[in-house]
Amino acid sequence: MSPAELDVETPAVCVDQAALARNIARGQEIARRHGLALSPHVKTHKTLEIAALQMQAGACGLTAAKTDEALVYLRADFRSLTVAYPLIAREKLRRLLKSARQNEAEINLLADSMDGLDAIRDTAAQLGLRTRVFVKIDVGLPRCGLLPEDPRLLELVHGIHGTPSLDFAGLLSHAGHAYAAADADEVRVIARAECRTMSRVREMLEKHGYAVPAVSVGSTPTVLAADTFDGITEIRPGNYVFLDGTALRLGLATLPEVALMVLATIVSANETYYIVDAGSKVLSSDKGAHGTAGTEHFGMAFPGDALQGQGEALRVVRLSEEHGFVERGAARLRIGERIVIVPNHACPVVNLADELIAWKASGAIERWKVAARGAVH
Ligand SMILES: Cc1ncc(COP(=O)(O)O)c(C=O)c1O
Repeated sequence: MSPAELDVETPAVCVDQAALARNIARGQEIARRHGLALSPHVKTHKTLEIAALQMQAGACGLTAAKTDEALVYLRADFRSLTVAYPLIAREKLRRLLKSARQNEAEINLLADSMDGLDAIRDTAAQLGLRTRVFVKIDVGLPRCGLLPEDPRLLELVHGIHGTPSLDFAGLLSHAGHAYAAADADEVRVIARAECRTMSRVREMLEKHGYAVPAVSVGSTPTVLAADTFDGITEIRPGNYVFLDGTALRLGLATLPEVALMVLATIVSANETYYIVDAGSKVLSSDKGAHGTAGTEHFGMAFPGDALQGQGEALRVVRLSEEHGFVERGAARLRIGERIVIVPNHACPVVNLADELIAWKASGAIERWKVAARGAVH
């Protein structure tokens, strides 16, 4: 069945529960095959329901980006969390660590500067807590993290070891630059380079007498494309649960594997465009993750049977806040007709929605609250 047949108002962000379950199983199978722990990033779905499915499938814990995002999961009794973000604000750290203590949860933090480490150390000491800290490595995005040859890396690890309230969790990286690749082969090259870089840093630390308990990597493209996880112990993909236009462009997914789609209705038409009721406030204006576009539209729209490959997919070529501009192809569509849109980037689409319409092949739907929506602090 197509989400176009669902008995819901539009615009609606719809999740195909069967495709979702297959994607969760695919991520878990990659982890199992390579002997890795899987700590999925919840920033993609921000729901409790999908996190529960990931844990049931065998995830070792969850990864979050921000303090308040993590708090949603701590309060819902998820007991193992990595906050893969350089938290430097003491108040945010206090909120997070207090909640972890209250909920008897294990928490991993991350540092890529002495300022960050000082804030973690002071807060943990004030609360009388022991905390585990990853050191982040920049493998090429370049965003957060220290370059492998940066002398501050050794100082940070030394600082963690020298602090009784802190334990060194290991090394962590995110190869987000893989999103700018042209195809899966290029992503695979980036994934191999990340493995080599992380192994080099681990060996350097071991030479200095520091054991490295975990080496954690993860972006959806690299996890899906990689042919080796040499020296890696953990993966943290997020987007793999839904996939999107970017995964399709990179050749890492096929259309039936995309679990999240936006259902919209044609509300007007002119000579050039069909106008639908999903604009930038639903689809986001994102052309791809990390601002690395590689695409010149805002999503692919599938009218009628086009999802089943029996018609033409049309491009969403412009957006106003409340309107999407779908280019008119040969298809003759009428006002009131529903179309299904595959967004370029699923994660910001979810963060714009109050709920996800989680549908089953029977047509039954569940409404899953986007519980950590807007938790940007
Ligand atoms: C630190 C970190 N880890 C993991 C992820 C998950 O990556 P993806 O969304 O490609 O699955 C992200 C995504 O931005 C991230 O920033």
